Amino acid sequence: MKTLIRNAHVVLPDETAVTSVLIDGTTIASIDPAIQTRADIELDATGRWLIPGVVDDQVHFREPGLTHKEDLHHASRACAKGGVTSFLEMPNTVPNTVDRKALEEKLAMARGKCLVNYGFYIGATLDNLSELKSVTRTPGIKIFIGSSTGNLLVDDQEVLEAIFAETRLPICAHCEDEATVRANAEKYSAETDVAFHSRVRDHEAALIATRRSIDLALRHQHPFHVLHVSTAAEVEEIHQAGDLITGEVCPHHLFFNVDDYERLGSLVKMNPSIKNREDNEALWQALIDGKLQVVATDHAPHTREEKRQPYPACPSGLPAVENSLALMLNEVNQGRIDIRQVVHWMCVEPTRIWHLRNKGAIREGFDADLALIDMDAPHPVSHDNQQAKCGWSPWDGVTLKGSVVQTWVMGREVFRKEQGQETFSTDHHSGHEIEFSHGDA
Ligand code: DOR
Repeated sequence: MKTLIRNAHVVLPDETAVTSVLIDGTTIASIDPAIQTRADIELDATGRWLIPGVVDDQVHFREPGLTHKEDLHHASRACAKGGVTSFLEMPNTVPNTVDRKALEEKLAMARGKCLVNYGFYIGATLDNLSELKSVTRTPGIKIFIGSSTGNLLVDDQEVLEAIFAETRLPICAHCEDEATVRANAEKYSAETDVAFHSRVRDHEAALIATRRSIDLALRHQHPFHVLHVSTAAEVEEIHQAGDLITGEVCPHHLFFNVDDYERLGSLVKMNPSIKNREDNEALWQALIDGKLQVVATDHAPHTREEKRQPYPACPSGLPAVENSLALMLNEVNQGRIDIRQVVHWMCVEPTRIWHLRNKGAIREGFDADLALIDMDAPHPVSHDNQQAKCGWSPWDGVTLKGSVVQTWVMGREVFRKEQGQETFSTDHHSGHEIEFSHGDA
C-alpha cells in the first residue's frame, strides 16, 4: 500500500522544505517534490506541516492492573489524536514491570491493542539487579529514587551504586528525595489544602535527589535521564554535568504553578509537584537554551472520583498525551518557539536518548510514523472530548490553536480530523513493538 502526501511543509532533519513524501508499506520510501509514482492514496497537504510522529518517553498507561484509570486501547487512541506515534511506558503497573517475565507479558498484551508503537521500561527494585542486566526488549531502566504512585522505591545507596555500576541500559529516574518528602509530610500533616503538596514535595526535595542521581551517573559514567524536571536549580545541575546527563520537562511544569491550585485543586496535584512562576520561566528558557532536551507528558491518569478525595488522599497525576503537541503548537502560534524546536524536543531527542531504531525523523528508509498539522486549526480541550479513559483534563475549557489533522503509524492512517470530526482506525494492530539499538556501534 502506497500513500503520497503532496506539498506539505516537511520538517526534515536539516531543513524545512515544501516537498512530497511517499509512504510504501511501513516505511518512508521517498522525499521529493517531483514524485511521479502512482499511489493508492494521494492527498494534497498544501499549507500543512508534516512532522515525525512524537515519541513520548514518559507515560503511565496503567495496564495491567489499574485499567479502571486507563488502558492501552484508550491511551493509544489519545496518542493517535495527539500526534504521538510511539510511547515508552513506566513500570508502576500491577504487577510492577520488574523482571523479564512481566516485561514480556506486557509486550505480548500490547500486541493487537495499540494504535501506536509501544515500548516498556523495566523498573528497579532493591533486589532485581540480575533482571536489569539481562533484559533487552526495553528502552531502559526506571528508578523511583523517591516514591510516587505505587510501591517502587530504591533509596538505598549501595543498591543504587550497583545499578549504575553493573547495568548497561540507559537509566532514568524520578528524582524527589524520600527523606525530605517524609519530613515535610510530617511537618504539614495537619494541612488539608492541596497547595501544601508543593511544600511537601518542595524545591529542595527535587534538587537533592537530582544531584544525588547525577553524582551516581557521573562516577559510573552511565547515561542518565532526569525525568520531569520541575525547578530552575535542577536545570543548572543537569547542564553543568555535561552530555552524559539529559533532562526532560512536562507540559504541567511549563504551564502550571502554585497559583493554579486555587482554580484546579487536585487536578494539578503531580509528583514532582508544580512549582513557582519563576520555575515555569526557567524551564522554558532551559529548553530554548538546550539545557533540557525533551518534552514528554508523564501522562498519569486517575479517575475523577479518586481525584475528588480530600488532600492528601487524592492521588498525584494528570493525563496529557492527547494535548501535549497542541500545547506546544499553540506556543509556536504565539511566537514563543518554532516548530523545529518542537520536533527536536518531542521527536529527535527522545529517539536519540533511548536509541529508537528508524524513528524520530522524516528520512528515506525510516518508519512512516508521521503527524500532519494544521497550524490554524482549533484544538479544543474539554473533559467531554478526551480519549483518555479518565475523561478529564486540567486544560478543560481551553481552545489551543494548531492541531494534528492526520496521524500515520508504520504507514497506516490511525487518526484523521476533518471539520472537527475525529475518526480513529479500528485496527489496533497498527502499533508495533519499538526496536532499540542499544549496543550498536
Ligand atoms: O504524579 C505522578 N503520578 N508522578 C509520577 O511520577 C507517577 C504518576 C502515577 O503513576 O500516577
